[in-house]
Amino acid sequence: METTPQILVVGSDPLLRGEIEAAVSALRRWRPVLHFVQSSRQAIEAARNRRPDIVCVQIEADPRSLKTFAEEIGAVAPGTAVVALYRPENLGFGENEHQIIIEAMRAQVQDFLRRPLTAPEMQQLLDRLLRRPAEQKREMGKVISIVSNKGGVGKSTVSVSVACALAKRLPPGKVLLIDASLHLGSCAPMLDLTPSTGLASAAREKARLDETLVRKLAVRHECGLDLLAAPIDAVDASDIDDEAMSRTITLARRSYDYVIVDTFPMLDGLIMAVLDLSDRAYVVVQNTVPNVVGAARLLPVLEHLGFPKERTRVILNNNFERAPGTLSVGDVEGRLDRAVDHEIPYQKKLITALNTGRPYVLHATQLFGFGKAIKGVVDELVTADLGSAPERATSADEQAEKKVRRAEPGFGTASNPRLAN
Ligand SMILES: Nc1ncnc2c1ncn2[C@@H]1O[C@H](COP(=O)(O)OP(=O)(O)OP(=O)(O)O)[C@@H](O)[C@H]1O
Ligand SMILES: [Mg+2]
Repeated sequence: METTPQILVVGSDPLLRGEIEAAVSALRRWRPVLHFVQSSRQAIEAARNRRPDIVCVQIEADPRSLKTFAEEIGAVAPGTAVVALYRPENLGFGENEHQIIIEAMRAQVQDFLRRPLTAPEMQQLLDRLLRRPAEQKREMGKVISIVSNKGGVGKSTVSVSVACALAKRLPPGKVLLIDASLHLGSCAPMLDLTPSTGLASAAREKARLDETLVRKLAVRHECGLDLLAAPIDAVDASDIDDEAMSRTITLARRSYDYVIVDTFPMLDGLIMAVLDLSDRAYVVVQNTVPNVVGAARLLPVLEHLGFPKERTRVILNNNFERAPGTLSVGDVEGRLDRAVDHEIPYQKKLITALNTGRPYVLHATQLFGFGKAIKGVVDELVTADLGSAPERATSADEQAEKKVRRAEPGFGTASNPRLAN
């Protein structure tokens, strides 16, 4: 199972960014997430925090600086491959080609890429570096984020329910829930936990944070789930920036099979850092007109920000009892112009569960209703190849049928004219 590779690109050449973005956008098998920095100093700091799979660095005239750089990357981010980018004309290629390559190899550079970069060469490089034999390759945990641009739609309910159901299915300590809802964290009370450490402690311990410390800062729930709780006040929350978040998730995925991230309704740098590392994002939509309209705007924005459609799934959450005028799945799909992947029904016992701190999903039947819907998400997570997720979880037949349904009168935007906006 592949994950989304993280590539850090280092160089001050203004053409480099456009060149690498063009090559990456034409890749067929890989969907890397790119980060750019200009100087070696910034690169060391970014590598320490983000632990990218690959660092691509422009070879400057003096290969000795590359040697020092590769050694420093090896120290702060063991396991990260260093790839040297070169322009043959700048190095007088042909005259001192062998010398440059020998120096670079000594400098523990794993591979080379000739500029201008091309998609086929980039593809081969990723295949070479990232498709290592299974025994060499360290299997990374999957990062799943639960997002929406509206509040109160059920993100935390979905996050806690999916995380608990997944944890129950696996041996204890395999699933971590990160409550990244910084000022509104509700996962701990939903699980009846009162942790003294959490995400803010991880941010404060940034310099010595490793996989073991992440585990220590998390608190175990009786179902086997670990929780890295949200900070309890605004002062603590201010310690958590996007780099601290990236670092925590990157380390967490090294020791947990699944990292589920509950988020808050805003697309800021912190949520972007979460999305950059997410193998899949579940967009939660509540079935009311303002919410569906909001989600219809969010989905293309996510794509525009570099989070591909294949990695998003839509959850329609009915957190209101059905009433006259309730939107149908067809209405919602028509407005979103894509299929709803999961529909979660209204479950009034969720309120009782909130007050007792006993997640409803842990004792709900999986045969129908809320328990069955959450099971559907968990089944998808454990069986899906998240690295190359299909465009939709349903079959081609189901998709065709849904298209027909949308076109029928009474479905799509026709049944609720307010959805047309
Ligand atoms: N399927 C459902 N049936 C009934 N009630 C639900 C359902 N889903 C969520 N709720 C209720 O809706 C309310 C909001 O849910 P939740 O806190 O999960 O939303 P949220 O998106 O995390 O909110 P915020 O943006 O404030 O973090 C809660 O009271 C929750 O119990
Ligand atoms: Mg919430």
